[in-house]
Amino acid sequence: MKHILITGGAGFIGSHVVRLMVNKYPDYQIVNLDKLTYAGNLENLKDIEHAPNYIFEKGDIVNAPLIDGLFKKYNFDSVIHLAAESHVDRSISNPLEFIKTNIEGTVNLLNSCRNLWSYGEGHLFYHISTDEVYGSLGKNGFFTEETAYDPRSPYSASKASSDHLVRAYYNTYGLPVVISNCSNNYGPNQFPEKLIPLAINNILHMKPIPVYGKGENVRDWLYVLDHAQAIDTIFHRGVPGDTYNIGGNNEWKNLDLIRLLCKITDEKLMRKEGTSQSLITFVKDRAGHDLRYAIDSSKIQKELGWSPSVTFEEGLAETVDWYLNNLEWMEHVTSGAYQSYYREQYEER
Ligand code: NAD
Ligand code: TYD
Repeated sequence: MKHILITGGAGFIGSHVVRLMVNKYPDYQIVNLDKLTYAGNLENLKDIEHAPNYIFEKGDIVNAPLIDGLFKKYNFDSVIHLAAESHVDRSISNPLEFIKTNIEGTVNLLNSCRNLWSYGEGHLFYHISTDEVYGSLGKNGFFTEETAYDPRSPYSASKASSDHLVRAYYNTYGLPVVISNCSNNYGPNQFPEKLIPLAINNILHMKPIPVYGKGENVRDWLYVLDHAQAIDTIFHRGVPGDTYNIGGNNEWKNLDLIRLLCKITDEKLMRKEGTSQSLITFVKDRAGHDLRYAIDSSKIQKELGWSPSVTFEEGLAETVDWYLNNLEWMEHVTSGAYQSYYREQYEER
């Protein structure tokens, strides 16, 4: 039996990874460690909370003795590390929280592995990271696994730092590690601070949809379930010491994406065409806003046989449906501290 620690499993991507692993591998014991910050939500995991191979532990990865204690209690042989502060705008307002969780928290996990594993077969520390560590592209080109790191926001700098530390533990101590760097995810359960769920929520409430700058920044979007499949593939078949880039081959300018989202949502809500588009509002740009991210994912496609399976049109339609069918979820996550976050970020922007 494998004993796997998944960190950040109550968050957006983490909850999809936990569900996939719990359902697909009944003989694995999955322990989900999550601090339940504003972004962590056990409602995301209601359907599997009583599964016999699933355990939830509330805790902070910055707390080293707690991590050590959990390693001793459960005898983990592998870690899939997703816990992080994940939102660029929050990192601009409060970088220190990102340094603590993303860097210090990662090092605490690495230390427990280093101290308690004998490096025999079957151990793996799998670090989930972002393409933002590579910096910003101009109009052409793609990030490959060889692209030099050039992080530009406090968020991406903290993730880059954690990636470097993970590699340092591989080189220095021989810890078996693997890293993947993925493009922007979207799908059910994403907290409405990120562009797509924030826009859907505002469309539902007929509120302005804030588009930073001229809306010309480009992101590569991947459906979260495709990311979860890629994580499953890399966890089982990735080569220790290696890095894999994961992307959707699906680049969109923010403004074009928002227009498409408005069209899909208007159709589903049976609103007159153009109703939601009229909500688009250009606001002050994000400081240091990266122009373009684009991933070359040929390595994982060729070496591990993974490729995205959901088209953007399908994925966006599924996502809008999920939010329309889960109004209560949105109500719960936006009723408390979200109100002051939203005011601080957007009121006088
Ligand atoms: P999220 O913000 O939705 O969830 C993060 C989770 O981590 C939450 O459940 C939160 O409670 C938990 N957490 C935060 N600090 C913690 C701490 N100190 N101790 C324990 N738990 C803590 O994030 P997400 O979008 O699901 O991203 C998950 C991972 O994937 C992150 O490492 C992120 O950098 C990476 N990533 C995200 C994207 C994306 O588009 N969202 C793309 C590529 C990589
Ligand atoms: P976001 O979802 O925050 O992801 P990231 O910054 O990690 O790429 O933002 C996606 C893009 O959308 C990014 O270019 C910033 C832009 N954006 C807006 O234009 N308005 C918004 O309200 C938000 C949150 C983001």
